[in-house]
Parts: sequence; C-alpha cells; structure tokens
Amino acid sequence: MSERASDDAAIRIEGARKVYRSLLGRQKEAVKDVSITVKRGTIHGLLGPNGAGKTTTLKMLLGLVRPTAGRFEILGDDAGSPEARRRIGFLPEQPYFPVHLTALQAMRFYGALAGVPEERLDSQAAELLERVGLADAVRAELSRFSRGMLQRLGIAQALLGSPEVVILDEPASGLDPVGQRDVRNLMLELRAAGTTVLLSSHQLSEVEAVCDRVTILHRGAVAAEDHIDRLLDVEGKTAVRARGIERLPEAVAAVADDVAFSGSVWAFSVPDGAVRTVVDAIDDAGGVVLAVQPKRESLEDYFARLLARAGEEVA
Ligand SMILES: Nc1ncnc2c1ncn2[C@@H]1O[C@H](COP(=O)(O)OP(=O)(O)OP(=O)(O)O)[C@@H](O)[C@H]1O
Ligand SMILES: [Mg+2]
Repeated sequence: MSERASDDAAIRIEGARKVYRSLLGRQKEAVKDVSITVKRGTIHGLLGPNGAGKTTTLKMLLGLVRPTAGRFEILGDDAGSPEARRRIGFLPEQPYFPVHLTALQAMRFYGALAGVPEERLDSQAAELLERVGLADAVRAELSRFSRGMLQRLGIAQALLGSPEVVILDEPASGLDPVGQRDVRNLMLELRAAGTTVLLSSHQLSEVEAVCDRVTILHRGAVAAEDHIDRLLDVEGKTAVRARGIERLPEAVAAVADDVAFSGSVWAFSVPDGAVRTVVDAIDDAGGVVLAVQPKRESLEDYFARLLARAGEEVA
C-alpha cells in the first residue's frame, strides 16, 4: 500500500503555521512549519517539550485555533467541514465540564452534541463511563470529581458517537498508574477496532508502549518523525543480560558498552558481530545468559540527545 494514497491517510496536516498576536501587537510564532500524516488505523504520538507547539497544532486541526497557514484534512475532508467534525472525538488539554451536572448528565449532553441518537444516549454513556473506570460515579456530581476522574470523563466524552478518529491531548495527564495503564489499553482496543488515534504526550513510556509512529516537535517544527522502532533502534548493537558471574569475562569486558550491574544481573551491549563470542565466554565462566535482543535506546535518552543536539536542555 502506498503511503501517498489519499484514502490511506486519516489525518493530513501540511505546512501548519500559527502566529499568535496579542492585543499589544506582540507576536509569537508557536508553530513554524509542521506537516504530519497519520495513517488510518494507527496510533500516532506527538512529543515535545513544554511550549513545542503540540496543543496549538492539534487545535488548528480541530478548528479551535485559526491557522496562520496550512492544510488540515481528516479522512479526506477539510478538517473544518461538518463531515470531518462528525467523525472526530477530542480530549482537550484541560477538559472543562459544567460542574453542577452528574457524569451521566454530562455524557448525555455531549453525546447529543456528538449526534448520538436519543434512544442510545443512556446506554452509550453508561458503557463508556464503565470503560474508563467511572461506573461507580455515574450519578455523582462533577463538582465532587477528582482531577483524574475528570480526565477519565474527558476521555469517555471523546469516544461518544464512536468516532473514527480520536485526538487526545495528553490523555495520561493527572491519571494514577492504573489509570494510565487503562488508557494505554483503551488506545490499543481502539486501534484493534480500526480507529485512528493521534495523541500528544509527555509520558514517554506511554508513547513507547502504544504508538506506531512518533513525531517529535521542537520549537514549532518537526525535529524527527519515524516508526518508533526505527527511531530507537541502535544499529549494530545487541543488548545482553546475564547472571551467575561475579565479573565480566575478559573477552566480554573488551567489547561491552553501557555496562550495568544490579542485584545479580549484568546488562550491557555489544557489537552484533561479537554476540557469539560473548555468549560462549559467559557460558564458559559458568554464567547464564538471560536475554539477547536488539539494543533499543529509551525514548527518554533519544529525546535528551535530540534536544542537546539542538543546544537545548530538557525542561
Ligand atoms: N493563546 C495563546 N496566545 C499566545 N501564545 C500562545 C497561546 N497559546 C499558546 N501560546 C504559545 O505558543 C507556544 C506553543 O504552545 P502549545 O500550547 O502549543 O505548546 P505544547 O507543546 O502543547 O506545550 P505543553 O507540553 O506545555 O502542553 C508556547 O510558547 C505558548 O506560550
Ligand atoms: Mg499542550
């Protein structure tokens, strides 16, 4: 399948640019030049430090901020068109709800806006609230919701009407570890059902765990874009873990990099060509090889390196 076939793309952003102007006439170029294509049925991550332009890019795509320049398409339609809007679900960075409503009332309200037929409002609202772990809070007033509960409600709201494209601005924000895992699983379920997900995130582990592709934004421009595996694969290196040895045999120490020892397990990386020698040497020394796998850089390290290269520290 060609990546250029237009029906292959769920989201297409081309040459997005945004200059904010204050009342005093000051200008801020929040987004300089961003192009992103998200294939149907994939999960795409948008990463970048605070102020990189993630939220502004998503808001332009949703028509919530007027772009200075750029083309924005959802499922082949102009992103601002009613056709496109009906097919999108959105979790804003700071979801706002009328606090005097109960969770169910809020879901009914947003469900009606999303075009869910009246007779299906209650069942869909209840089902989604259960899916985000709010089954016990259906009739609770939102003024009593914790930060994480409101975030869960925001995610449930984004899924009303079973949108084909779901855009989530920092879905893990404010969630406890179980909540974060739930959201990861939810995104994987959405993808399995053919839904396209575009999310922004600071949770690098979340992005690593679910995203097919990642775009890294830095100062309003795309700093990198790739399959997560390709972004992180350290070419020519293999990661090895072993235990049962007090020190690394000489043949291993001579070629090993990034050596770490914790508890009883050694972890290090070696050139691909040395794997056989290394495994034999550990074996001869009476040790046990626990794992041999392609070396991957953590997204954290990658990110730090990228920003350092740009002469910038991670905030
Ligand atoms: N309404 C606005 N008016 C003026 N400047 C703005 C406005 N909204 C955002 N900005 C500026 O645009 C830049 C990009 O902001 P944006 O919210 O898109 O970043 P972000 O990548 O989402 O950051 P974060 O990780 O903190 O959410 C920032 O410098 C910010 O100060
Ligand atoms: Mg943001």
